[in-house]
Amino acid sequence: MSIRTALPTDAMHMVEIERAVATSPWSLAQFLSSCHSASEDCWVSYEEHTGVVGFAISQRIVDETTLLNVGVAPDQQGLGRGGLLLAAVLDKARADGSQRCLLEVRASNSAARHLYERAGFVQDGVRKAYYPAVAGREDAILMSLDMKLWN
Ligand SMILES: CC(C)(COP(=O)(O)OP(=O)(O)OC[C@H]1O[C@@H](n2cnc3c(N)ncnc32)[C@H](O)[C@@H]1OP(=O)(O)O)[C@@H](O)C(=O)NCCC(=O)NCCS
Repeated sequence: MSIRTALPTDAMHMVEIERAVATSPWSLAQFLSSCHSASEDCWVSYEEHTGVVGFAISQRIVDETTLLNVGVAPDQQGLGRGGLLLAAVLDKARADGSQRCLLEVRASNSAARHLYERAGFVQDGVRKAYYPAVAGREDAILMSLDMKLWN
């Protein structure tokens, strides 16, 4: 189970995973833009025999890092890949001197919320009815990790 920096040539694999797991998937153009962005870091989880099976994308602005997106292929979930991808994001954030890591997550996304809480993220607030949902709208949970506590 390996993590490496994503290349623009990985974007097609990332968008395929995204389409399989996300309610409002990013486009190929968004993944390519992130791969080329100087302020964003993109990581992939891969195996020699299966290729790219997960990704994480973060953005650094001054001393804060925001987790923009993370996804693991459905048949590869629950094996620790999400945890490793999140660890790569947090290691880079710490190396860059980020003071806080931020993210937002759908209220119903128990797996992702569990992953973030396990890493030490705490809930900061709620954006009511922020996301479109299959039936109506859904709250966004705002979470953060104080990197100072992490060092
Ligand atoms: C969130 C996601 C990236 C996690 O990836 P993963 O490879 O399954 O993560 P891991 O295997 O490292 O760990 C998942 C943890 O969540 C737990 N989990 C899995 N499904 C769960 C569920 N339905 N409810 C609660 N916890 C759950 C696992 O048990 C594990 O915790 P543990 O190690 O303490 O037992 C993956 O589920 C995914 O791609 N989801 C769809 C995209 C998504 O929601 N992205 C986040 C947007 S904010």
